[in-house]
Amino acid sequence: MATGVIVEIQRNSPNWGTVVEDIVKLERKIFPKHESLARSFDAELRKKNSGLLYREVDGAVAGYVMYSWPSSLSASITKLAVRDACRKQGYGEALLTAAIQKCRTRNVQRITLHVDPLRTPAVNLYKKLGFKIDNLIEGYYSSDRNAYRMYLDFDASQ
Ligand SMILES: CC(C)(COP(=O)(O)OP(=O)(O)OC[C@H]1O[C@@H](n2cnc3c(N)ncnc32)[C@H](O)[C@@H]1OP(=O)(O)O)[C@@H](O)C(=O)NCCC(=O)NCCS
Repeated sequence: MATGVIVEIQRNSPNWGTVVEDIVKLERKIFPKHESLARSFDAELRKKNSGLLYREVDGAVAGYVMYSWPSSLSASITKLAVRDACRKQGYGEALLTAAIQKCRTRNVQRITLHVDPLRTPAVNLYKKLGFKIDNLIEGYYSSDRNAYRMYLDFDASQ
């Protein structure tokens, strides 16, 4: 697995602007318009009980993961992406592992997420880290794009 520093984004940090710029660029490149947070990114980050972790490589954002914990019972992974040139090097797994750890510190019992079943690398990664498919939601992203709802439960005794 890729090692290195995974950082929580901080509004008061001097590199806030460049990090957000990198992420918005990646959003535009990787996700179709209706799935992209490029235009609503700042608003998403201002939401209470949400966070974003990212990893830089050679001075630019290589990948990021967004998560939120709307209630004390459950959290969700709202975004995960790794720059094309940095894929298959363990960054996605390291980011998701870090986000799961963050959610666990909130003592939630479950983490959920939605993913297009056609995104095989993502579905495989979620399964690798223990997520299970709950159900298929037809038309979730758009009229012709479905989503798996996936979940990861924690044993209360752990
Ligand atoms: C999904 C994504 C984040 C994976 O990032 P990554 O850094 O390449 O992933 P890793 O190198 O950490 O791989 C971890 C695991 O993911 C799965 N995986 C990653 N790439 C894969 C591929 N091309 N094919 C099949 N499985 C793959 C594997 O299970 C892999 O474990 P392994 O190396 O033991 O086989 C990346 O492909 C991506 O950004 N995709 C586009 C955005 C997206 O689909 N996001 C999720 C929906 S919000």
